[in-house]
Amino acid sequence: MVEFNNVSVWFDDNLVFKDLNFKVNDGEFVFVTGPTGSGKSTLLRLIYMDIFPNRGKVIVGRFDSRKIKKRQIPYLRRRLGIVFQDFKLLDDRNVFENVAFALYVTGAKRKEINRKVLMALTEVGLSHKKNSMPDELSGGEQQRVAIARAIVNEPFLILADEPTGNLDPDTSTEIIELLKRINLRGTSIIMATHNYSIIEMVKDAKVFQISNHTLVQIK
Ligand SMILES: Nc1ncnc2c1ncn2[C@@H]1O[C@H](COP(=O)(O)OP(=O)(O)O)[C@@H](O)[C@H]1O
Ligand SMILES: [Mg+2]
Repeated sequence: MVEFNNVSVWFDDNLVFKDLNFKVNDGEFVFVTGPTGSGKSTLLRLIYMDIFPNRGKVIVGRFDSRKIKKRQIPYLRRRLGIVFQDFKLLDDRNVFENVAFALYVTGAKRKEINRKVLMALTEVGLSHKKNSMPDELSGGEQQRVAIARAIVNEPFLILADEPTGNLDPDTSTEIIELLKRINLRGTSIIMATHNYSIIEMVKDAKVFQISNHTLVQIK
């Protein structure tokens, strides 16, 4: 489902990945860990094709980094759910509209949008906050809205870039429990984190560490 073939990435004279081979199968929960600046975000950006390998290729579902056209990238992103450390909610829209946003461009009907948004908000336990503005929510609630937005299109894969990085330990645990539940229903998850106590919360996860410009499986 996700496959890296001999991927090398560098920025000017800064080498990030060299001949990286990496594969994620259907339904897996995968952690990518490594110190700040080692390339965790770069790895995820390669998957949502925000950047491209200097050498080698990345395959995500039916998309190939060497063949994909610029206009196809939104279709790839619609099949993915992406969650960031800083939530990235739209401050001038309420919770409902933040989650609905990605559905408008798909041409979905109003009734369908309503149903999907409420289902996603129910899944994250926030249907009662659908009319709230982001700044009226706690950090944990904002991240749950971001997760609702990520799952509303029923993605096959969720990419989470340090999603608990701005949250306290209890709230982080809630977010991980939520992602575990989503994973149990079949959605694959790739999460970047440098926090080992987070990694230990997901028993069956695979864990890869970035080391020497490549990924080493440590669990
Ligand atoms: N757009 C960019 N331009 C130049 N250098 C970059 C860019 N993005 C990332 N880097 C560099 O690539 C390395 C990996 O960065 P990043 O993937 O953000 O690491 P992490 O997420 O593990 O902290 C760092 O040295 C960073 O400075
Ligand atoms: Mg990062």
